[in-house]
Amino acid sequence: MRRPLVAGNWKMFTDPSTARKLAGELKEKFADCTWVDVVVCPPFTSIQAVVGSLDGSNIEVGGQNLHWESEGAFTGEISAAMLLSSGCKWVIIGHSERRAYFSETDKRVLSKARSALAAGLKPIVCVGETLDQREADITEKIVEAQLDGGLGDIDDIGHLTIAYEPVWAIGTGKNATPQQAEEVHGFIRKLLAEHWGAKAAESTRILYGGSVKPENASALWREENIDGFLVGGASLKADSFLRIAESVK
Ligand code: PGA
Repeated sequence: MRRPLVAGNWKMFTDPSTARKLAGELKEKFADCTWVDVVVCPPFTSIQAVVGSLDGSNIEVGGQNLHWESEGAFTGEISAAMLLSSGCKWVIIGHSERRAYFSETDKRVLSKARSALAAGLKPIVCVGETLDQREADITEKIVEAQLDGGLGDIDDIGHLTIAYEPVWAIGTGKNATPQQAEEVHGFIRKLLAEHWGAKAAESTRILYGGSVKPENASALWREENIDGFLVGGASLKADSFLRIAESVK
């Protein structure tokens, strides 16, 4: 039985002061959420404030990106070790916004996932098709290529989580229907089994992301292969994030 996970991706929102306030509200509201793993991923500059606010809570913190080297002359970048020492346990890798705006390739996803796993961070690796790709009926081909190129060379995916996030559903208010999401989640589970074996496939969590709201989370959660959510906009309000966590009971 996979334990549900809900992760909030705060993207480039909050400064240390608003992030501290939001984290404080989450700490209070999520105090009884024993059925679900909860993670929030603030911008780098707010990580320490959030880690401080969440001290003693059941909510963990993640980064939204990392560099694949442990240190070096990489202006503007942050390593796995830096995230860890700032109190992060998780990191999002290969988000579609990074793929689209920062030329992140599957090869980069692979080096980042390797680096995160080696450091002991738990990666949430994102995959998903664009609207054009869905309309061209190549969703499975795209997702398979992303998984293969981004993770294919990794031996042990034990601590890794996959997030299926159709690009056309992110920040658009148009979520995938439960059936559309489940089709891809089931396909991903099948690929995991083929590549890493039935046990790894059975235990790896596959999150859905893309316009998840309190109003649509329960229907998505009822699908067999949806193990939780990666939430953008709705994770910036403690109440809506809590209602999403309550829907995965
Ligand atoms: P959204 O973002 O929930 O605002 O659509 C999801 C994501 O980008 O992870």
